[in-house]
Amino acid sequence: MGLKCAIDGPSGAGKSTIAKTLAQKIGFIYVDTGALYRAIGLYALRKGVITDIPEQVVPLLDEIKLDLRHENNVQRVFLNGEDVSDLIRTQEISMAASDVSAFAEVRQFLIDLQREIAANNDVIMDGRDIGTVILPDAEVKVFLTASPEERARRRFEELKARSRDVEYEKVLSDINRRDYNDSHREISPLRKADDAIELDSTGMEVGEVVDRVEELIDAARRREFKTIPAWRRVPYALLRGLAALVFGIIFDVRYEGRENLPKSGSVILAGNHRTWFDPVLIAIRVKYISSYMAKSELFEIPVLRTIIKIVHAFPTRRNSADVSSLSVAEEYIRKGYNLTIFPEGTRSRDGKIGRARSGVAVIASRCGVPVYPVGIAYKGHLRFRRRITVRFGEPISPEELKIASMSKTDLRAAGDRIMAKIAKLVETDV
Ligand code: DC
Repeated sequence: MGLKCAIDGPSGAGKSTIAKTLAQKIGFIYVDTGALYRAIGLYALRKGVITDIPEQVVPLLDEIKLDLRHENNVQRVFLNGEDVSDLIRTQEISMAASDVSAFAEVRQFLIDLQREIAANNDVIMDGRDIGTVILPDAEVKVFLTASPEERARRRFEELKARSRDVEYEKVLSDINRRDYNDSHREISPLRKADDAIELDSTGMEVGEVVDRVEELIDAARRREFKTIPAWRRVPYALLRGLAALVFGIIFDVRYEGRENLPKSGSVILAGNHRTWFDPVLIAIRVKYISSYMAKSELFEIPVLRTIIKIVHAFPTRRNSADVSSLSVAEEYIRKGYNLTIFPEGTRSRDGKIGRARSGVAVIASRCGVPVYPVGIAYKGHLRFRRRITVRFGEPISPEELKIASMSKTDLRAAGDRIMAKIAKLVETDV
């Protein structure tokens, strides 16, 4: 699946700072596409060619292999296997990158690489033509600007902090020249996409801009959610209301961690499993419609079967790797539903937290969605007006799960991470 946020704009508008901070905050992958043009600029300079002459630059592309890797949300760019991420941050390379980026062959060379990264991930991608050319169907498009003086000042401070010998006037004139180059080239010039939101960050704090873009992403998610037809959402909402009433009378249910409730659909809610009505307890507080992974035996009980089908429960066989149920779960997430799952696979009578089965990690990783841990705690036996505490924890981003391959070891470790977060939520008892 993957939600795409494109941030375009001129040099020094703050794109990378905003994109990086927000990606970290909401568990998206941050893709800095300028680094790709910079790496080509670096290669051209190393070869001693004149970077604004296409006949000299274009033949070099056959010798170049670029790779972007993301580790803990930090992007590294590899040029023919060499990590050049730090080398490409000079003024000289900025100009070379701007030069080579004007050539159609160079842009074409980088298109697939950029699209591939966005294909299966939630991404925030910054550049010049992301909203117009690379990801024209991005759900969120931002055109980030600031006055040339402000941009020059920011770049100047940044370069000075790295103790480079710089002059403000030179930085400003470079910015003006790059602006001109980037917006006047024939191929994919820097231009606001028609459906992009323009944000002028002059005089704004980083945090303010980050919040604004995050709001746009939340709004996009809500729009996506609304595409689930009303005939599916309404019966669910009615049952949810009824359940809140009934369970509120029978038990003394307390909810904690409301600030951690999901703000959209397409997330995984993973809880420890104490009672048969845990899914209901979670659903009462989470307003976005969810699907539920439920043991297949429940689908053999006549009336129950009908009710759980209304709330989009689907069967899973508990003692085998049920591949088809994982596909159903993914399908629901892709359509904008949440998935409520109890990773241990079975109820714990004494409240002890067990190990997760691999399903939750497989789904989180394949769909690239965050896992919201939920802790359910009560003391003693369940009886009338027993206090039950339901705690929502901070979401775990797909990156945090560190699933590099779908190996047993990675999946087990990811499952353990999820259960550890859940365990923390039930540590402070009821
Ligand atoms: O964002 P940056 O300063 O790292 O980009 C370096 C140059 O690369 C910039 O002058 C224009 C070019 N570029 C581009 O043409 N398209 C992109 N998507 C990203 C960068």
